[in-house]
Amino acid sequence: MTRRKMLITGAGAGIGAALAARAADAGYTIGVMDADELRARDVAEKLDNAVALAGDVRDAADMAAAVRRLGGVDVLVNNAGILRTSPLIDHSPDDFRLVMDVNLTGAFIAAQAAARHMQDHGGGAIINISSINALHPSPNCGAYVAAKAGLIGLTQQMSIEWGRFGIRVNAIAPGFIDGGMSSPYYANAKVRERRSAAVPLGRLGTVDDVADAAIFLASEQSAYINGVTLAVDGGVINSVLLQLPRE
Ligand SMILES: NC(=O)c1ccc[n+]([C@@H]2O[C@H](COP(=O)([O-])OP(=O)(O)OC[C@H]3O[C@@H](n4cnc5c(N)ncnc54)[C@H](O)[C@@H]3O)[C@@H](O)[C@H]2O)c1
Repeated sequence: MTRRKMLITGAGAGIGAALAARAADAGYTIGVMDADELRARDVAEKLDNAVALAGDVRDAADMAAAVRRLGGVDVLVNNAGILRTSPLIDHSPDDFRLVMDVNLTGAFIAAQAAARHMQDHGGGAIINISSINALHPSPNCGAYVAAKAGLIGLTQQMSIEWGRFGIRVNAIAPGFIDGGMSSPYYANAKVRERRSAAVPLGRLGTVDDVADAAIFLASEQSAYINGVTLAVDGGVINSVLLQLPRE
């Protein structure tokens, strides 16, 4: 049986690297793509059936080359993302454009490159890593919130346009994840404690929690799921009144 091919953007660190390891266990051939070539190589070297791919999701030629070098793609995980924090009143337009470019336009460019291959090869699955910030804004995250909300809209749009090609497109909205870009934040014990207490399941999430959800949305077990956003957040998006119980 031929191995299915999973291309993961931003796979040189955090959630993407954890997913690459999970995908290797699940029997995929993995394209470990990252703008940071060294990181991509570090991750790929440790895995069976993984190839390191240097490239920027904002660049259509890079994405087309990544699909070619992997020898095709059955699953794309749009995971590359960046965060720039600032109150909106002071947010530099350049930073705003950069966040939109990587987190939203980059996901579109990568998805288009993958879908062009998938439509001629029996379909596939695309998974967009959004954030609970797409559903709930948080202080100083303006551009990130806008881009991640846009990514959910893009997921829905792609799901209706590409379903007829056998391509399923879904999003994941991770919550408070103890890893990746949030690692410096959760190094602070007080932040960890407050955030953990706000989660109905009583703990922060892990990069593997997110990776497991992506493996599910990539698999045949989710064959009829298309256009949804799966929160992987321990229930925190429903917890606004948890701290204010009705006495
Ligand atoms: N960690 C969290 O708390 C959290 C929570 C919600 C959502 N997310 C989302 O999960 C995804 C992964 O986050 P993470 O925490 O693992 O981040 P991370 O910073 O640890 O890793 C992101 C990787 O993306 C790469 N990258 C950045 N720009 C790129 C580009 N233009 N082209 C290709 N690669 C690029 C970086 O080099 C890096 O290796 C992001 O989309 C992020 O927004 C993370």
